[in-house]
Amino acid sequence: MNSKIKIILVAGARPNFMKIAPLIHEMEKYEMFDTLLVHTGQHYDEKMSELFFEQLNIPEPDVNLEVGSASHAVQTARIMERFEKVCIDEKPDAVLVVGDVNSTVACVLVATKLNIKTIHYEAGLRSNDRTMPEEINRVVTDAICDIFFTTSSDADNNLIREGKDPYKIFMTGNLMIDSLINNLNKSKKIKVEIKGNNGEKYKYGENIKSGEYGIMTFHRPSNVDRKDDLEELIEIWGSISERLPLIFPVHPRTLKNIKNFRLTERIKSFSNLIICKPLGYLEFLKLVSGAKFVLTDSGGIQEETTYLNIPCLTLRRNTERPITITEGSNKLVKKNEIIQEINLILNGKGKRGKIPKYWDGKSADRIVEILKSIFIDKWRN
Ligand code: UD1
Repeated sequence: MNSKIKIILVAGARPNFMKIAPLIHEMEKYEMFDTLLVHTGQHYDEKMSELFFEQLNIPEPDVNLEVGSASHAVQTARIMERFEKVCIDEKPDAVLVVGDVNSTVACVLVATKLNIKTIHYEAGLRSNDRTMPEEINRVVTDAICDIFFTTSSDADNNLIREGKDPYKIFMTGNLMIDSLINNLNKSKKIKVEIKGNNGEKYKYGENIKSGEYGIMTFHRPSNVDRKDDLEELIEIWGSISERLPLIFPVHPRTLKNIKNFRLTERIKSFSNLIICKPLGYLEFLKLVSGAKFVLTDSGGIQEETTYLNIPCLTLRRNTERPITITEGSNKLVKKNEIIQEINLILNGKGKRGKIPKYWDGKSADRIVEILKSIFIDKWRN
């Protein structure tokens, strides 16, 4: 009798969910796979987690480790402790992790030490900046993982440079773009109503019009964890908002810092800076696809804007996703360059690009075809 291949898929934080969704849907089509979804609970707010499961139609997690927030060491340790028990009980054939968050590295460490085959989707990205916790997570994950799925050839080159066997590296494209393509039409049809920080209501199509606003996200410690930086940024955001409405769905880390640094009054004083809670996947996608520009420090948004060909300004010194710059519509900027770059965009000179290879909505198919071939012998026996 054929025995199914049991694969644990790990998701922990918001940017993981859109990578897991197309993959789990594709794997579920095949008899040979028995998938088990583990949510580490790194992100737990309704707006950061549950809503994404609902909108992306991800099945309820089979296990939720409910680790919550803590320092990096404590959060990673908690995930490891709880995930080890899951692996021992479930005895999976493989553990598949995505992205670069603490949940990614924690689960790979556990699985590898239990001699379980490990697979990393979004392997090989490097910012070469070890002050970023995500870079440590990427480097450690790839150092011990068995199979690598990548989104671009620069990632393949990084892995080869680090001594990986080229036969274990598969450039299969971008799962986040699978999710984007699968949901773009749906997102266009939904109504978006945002409640601003002063209680005002904004409706897409009425007081927010396609092509006449900007949208931004900020949550990187390097931008929001120090008062001086945040204060300076608020002035820049405020001055942009005097030119056109600027929508700002605020990440919990950033909100906490705004409050702790007593900057709430100042940020609220800009009437066109529309501060709101984190948005659902569909609402955010709709707002990004209709925006004049995006200003961010996120990783994934650099890729989404490249696909949508929307000018994106990324406030970071480096990016692990260089293809969004060499081929896409992304530009790295310093704080003192933001206003001049916004001027260019408002004068119709924003950066445009092309869609990178295999960012075509078929990445999950490619990955699952490869997984089938890797596990086919075991399945037959
Ligand atoms: C994490 C990821 C980052 C990713 C980001 C997207 C790591 C190292 N970082 O950063 O790569 O870009 O998620 O959101 O894994 N919090 C809540 N509710 C939540 C989640 C977090 O209030 O649902 C608060 C907590 O108080 C916590 C802070 O936000 O202290 C930061 O959360 P954490 O998961 O540690 O890191 P992120 O900054 O979200």
